[in-house]
Amino acid sequence: MKKVFFLFVLVALSACKKDDTTTELTFVKPVHFPEPTYKFENNRITRAGFELGRILFYDGDLSRDGSISCGSCHLQSAAFTHHGHDVSHGIDDRIGSRNAPPVMNLAWGKTFFWDGGVHDLDLFAIAPIENPLEMDETFANVVSKLKKKAVYPPLFQKAFGTTEISGPLVLKALSQFQLMLVSAESRYDKFRLGDTNALTADEKTGLELVKTKCGNCHAGELFTDDSFRNNGIQHFGDKGRFRITLNDDDAYKFKVPSLRNLQYTAPYMHDGRFLTLDAVVEHYRKGVRQSPNIDPSVSNGISITDDEKQKILTFLSALNDENFIRNKEFSEQ
Ligand code: HEC
Ligand code: HEC
Repeated sequence: MKKVFFLFVLVALSACKKDDTTTELTFVKPVHFPEPTYKFENNRITRAGFELGRILFYDGDLSRDGSISCGSCHLQSAAFTHHGHDVSHGIDDRIGSRNAPPVMNLAWGKTFFWDGGVHDLDLFAIAPIENPLEMDETFANVVSKLKKKAVYPPLFQKAFGTTEISGPLVLKALSQFQLMLVSAESRYDKFRLGDTNALTADEKTGLELVKTKCGNCHAGELFTDDSFRNNGIQHFGDKGRFRITLNDDDAYKFKVPSLRNLQYTAPYMHDGRFLTLDAVVEHYRKGVRQSPNIDPSVSNGISITDDEKQKILTFLSALNDENFIRNKEFSEQ
């Protein structure tokens, strides 16, 4: 009797598994997060679409010579940044101009890149593919290379009901994978959801300090208000948001980054100039430089005592989400 029951469970399980490829994979909005900005109705996430997106994300054939995948610069162990690189290195070890930001919580992104140069996640992948310093390939050629790989037609069939590989479907699959890269399981999140013991007393004080001293820009549950600001670092050639809008009022403004997962994403700022969080906080205390469009909230520096600094740093460590960097679903299979 027991055996029969066991067999039944096995059969049921394998049936489930088969079904999994066609069923929707649920994108779960963490309850304390705002509504996502991504229009899911145009690109329903399915398990097959997500899995196809994952294979594409780790496929070197998206680059000219097969050597660089999206995952080469966005490493899961580094919360999908390019660990150890101030500015990222691409094909032929060509050096880019900016630090790779984490690929996380993109469903809430209003714009992408440090300067907000891309608005639509479903068009995003063309930019790194065609960037001569990154993957140096044409998107059309990527599509024709994928068509020649035997693995793909059945995967597109499962994901989109067609073996015809097209640019828009490649982009949709990549979006599906990236949208699922949700990071919301830090100790801070547990605290937010009611576990009052998830943070120490110092971390709770640190949270309040971050809210009052940094929350003007690193606001809300994502710890960014998605605006563009000049936070008073010394600026060299890169004029940030100005490159996109050509409006002088935008010169030296960069997108406010999230404060989540900082332990894994060093170095910091758009050009990776700071190696430690200590150096970042020191910048806000004592290192602010005047330049056009500096944000009024930092133009005189932010007053932070030594004790407050320690508590801020302690709190920031409660924003690290180990499950995010260990989740096998997000890894190259
Ligand atoms: C050579 C390294 C490199 C490769 C390869 C690469 N990226 Fe990036 N990625 C970067 C850098 C650097 C930035 C920031 C560029 C900027 O802001 O100007 C970035 C930014 C991003 C962002 C924006 C995140 C945000 O919050 O604004 C996403 C999403 C992203 N990459 C996804 C991808 C995908 C998908 C691929 C593959 C098609 C890819 N990247 C390939 C280095 C790379
Ligand atoms: C005026 C708005 C503003 C305030 C206030 C502010 N920041 Fe920032 N922060 C930014 C911007 C903009 C950047 C990105 C700047 C760049 O790369 O050029 C940034 C970058 C950072 C980074 C780097 C993150 C990364 O992924 O590279 C950290 C860490 C950081 N800020 C922490 C803090 C802390 C802690 C405070 C409070 C003590 C604070 N910030 C206050 C706007 C602000």
